[in-house]
Amino acid sequence: MSYYTTLGLTKEPFSTSPDPNFFFRSSSHVQALTRLEIAIRLRRGLSLILGEVGTGKTTLARTLLANFPREDGFHFHIILDPSFESEFQFLLHLARLFGVQQPFKSALDCREAIEHHLFQRGVAEGGTTVLMIDEGQKLSVDMLENLRVLLNYETNEYKLLQVVIFGQMELMGRIRRIKNFIDRVALKYIINPLSEEETAQMIQFRLESAGWSQAQRLFTPEAIQAVHRFTQGYPRQIALVCHNALEALVIHEKSLIDDALVQELIRDESRWTCEAAA
Ligand SMILES: Nc1ncnc2c1ncn2[C@@H]1O[C@H](COP(=O)(O)OP(=O)(O)OP(=O)(O)O)[C@@H](O)[C@H]1O
Ligand SMILES: [Mg+2]
Repeated sequence: MSYYTTLGLTKEPFSTSPDPNFFFRSSSHVQALTRLEIAIRLRRGLSLILGEVGTGKTTLARTLLANFPREDGFHFHIILDPSFESEFQFLLHLARLFGVQQPFKSALDCREAIEHHLFQRGVAEGGTTVLMIDEGQKLSVDMLENLRVLLNYETNEYKLLQVVIFGQMELMGRIRRIKNFIDRVALKYIINPLSEEETAQMIQFRLESAGWSQAQRLFTPEAIQAVHRFTQGYPRQIALVCHNALEALVIHEKSLIDDALVQELIRDESRWTCEAAA
């Protein structure tokens, strides 16, 4: 039996996988999502969503994919890890992703076929092709240059390819180094961590999404304050600390997570970070 079923929950509330069912709509995440939907619908080209490690970029990408209405001829494609060995491999992957099956001899061949496909889908069929790239910090300068070329395909009114890049902050430096790249970004957004109030709401939301239906609370307000102070509102850290807290609750057969319990976990956790840094 899992620890969470002991508490009467049906799912693990604080898993660290990017599950859209556990996506809490914080003000920053909602803003990113809404602005992305607008940019995609207006076919504005390139959107860039940056954030520190564990701020929810992958969860946001999956939520966009899961919630965007499909009836309007939008074709979504996602690259979860853009670590390609060469420009040709990258373009070949893109062509296959878009459903272009013919054999290719060179990167140029590939680019031409992708261009033809985008015109066919975007102009002849009136569809919208959306390419989402997660782990954008792994995009090499070469690949970014290739994306820039693909983003040049356009009609008088709109871009034929919509690209959304989700990446850690280090991507910013690389993009700045490519001439004229930043000017082409139609939407730039940096995900903010959660406020203390949102941290409390996220914890409650994830507990309820996992089946918690009792009026009784599991965390005291002081415990939540301590979680927020330690995690600084970063969702992955919040999920990790809360998971450990719930596990400790079950192991020690307690019914309420208080400040003392969270402080003890934080002390344990800090030993790992301090000793690793030493
Ligand atoms: N808005 C949110 N609501 C609830 N949980 C969230 C939210 N955003 C992120 N999380 C949780 O935080 C954890 C990390 O999220 P995610 O993997 O999306 O972060 P990331 O920014 O992609 O991290 P990385 O920089 O390592 O790729 C997951 O457990 C996820 O469920
Ligand atoms: Mg991620």
